[in-house]
Amino acid sequence: MSRPRATLGKDLTGLESLSREQIEAVLDTAEPFKEISERRLRQVPVLRGQTIVNLFFEPSTRTRISFEFAEKRLAADAVNIGARRSSVSKGETLVDTARNLEAMRIDMVVIRHWSAGAAAFLAARIPSNVINAGDGAHEHPTQGLLDMLTLRDHFGRLEGLKVCIVGDVLHSRVARSNIFGLTRVGAEVAVCGPRTLMPAGVEDLGVRLFRRVEEAIEWADALNVLRLQMERMQDGFVPSLREYNRVFGVTRRRLEWAPRDLLILHPGPMNRGVEIDSDVADGPHSVILRQVTNGVAIRMAVLYLLSGGAPEGAEAAKAGAGA
Ligand code: CP
Repeated sequence: MSRPRATLGKDLTGLESLSREQIEAVLDTAEPFKEISERRLRQVPVLRGQTIVNLFFEPSTRTRISFEFAEKRLAADAVNIGARRSSVSKGETLVDTARNLEAMRIDMVVIRHWSAGAAAFLAARIPSNVINAGDGAHEHPTQGLLDMLTLRDHFGRLEGLKVCIVGDVLHSRVARSNIFGLTRVGAEVAVCGPRTLMPAGVEDLGVRLFRRVEEAIEWADALNVLRLQMERMQDGFVPSLREYNRVFGVTRRRLEWAPRDLLILHPGPMNRGVEIDSDVADGPHSVILRQVTNGVAIRMAVLYLLSGGAPEGAEAAKAGAGA
């Protein structure tokens, strides 16, 4: 059966291809959905009867669990598959896996995969809606959206906001989705990190480049601090973790020099004492757990919109009227 394809089209594979209106529609749709998670009975029948497969080929805590919560809170039927316990471990290809799932009549696939482009590859080959939950170092669009929602909650706007992404930009799909999303809605974006962890030509993405974290702190309204992705590093990208913390770590002492209170974001998981110190991560300017809370609302909004729901129908859907 063909499904309505309105606000976001069929799939969400990245923020690079979204318009400002589409991004704002997701953020606006997430607003009414936030309240559902605060209720005693945290469920509305928006996706009742829809079947969703969460296909995770890489480890995940926040993304996988918040997609599962989002699906349950919208009353969808959800199935979780990890690579180790699926026939992928016997050599089955991604597309064969998806076609077999498709044969069981699924509506949506949420996929995390180590390979850049995996979500788009799948989206082009199966009729179900595909949502990218992180593909290699390419994009992590729902993380970018939840970061934007968290910034908008705090500042009341995104236009003109100065956001610096600090750390391992080279290996970061979160950085790319933040850059695409934030620049599209009119924020100013900068990056800061060691030369070895900065993609060549990063400024061509429309961002400023700071070599010293002190300059970034002086410039920014918010820092989005990235994890050093050790699992994607074959070579010695940094001399040592202690050295990295000394030069690029976001520490309380560094923040004391900031001309204004900086908002601190981190997509998680954190390497405490490496890219961020505990007294910053747990301090008064950190919205790291608020990001996690917003992640559920963003994923509910994305599921709802891809299922054909209209942004202006989210209030009624929240009240239990269905999509
Ligand atoms: N932010 C994020 O993607 O975290 P997980 O790897 O735990 O999903």
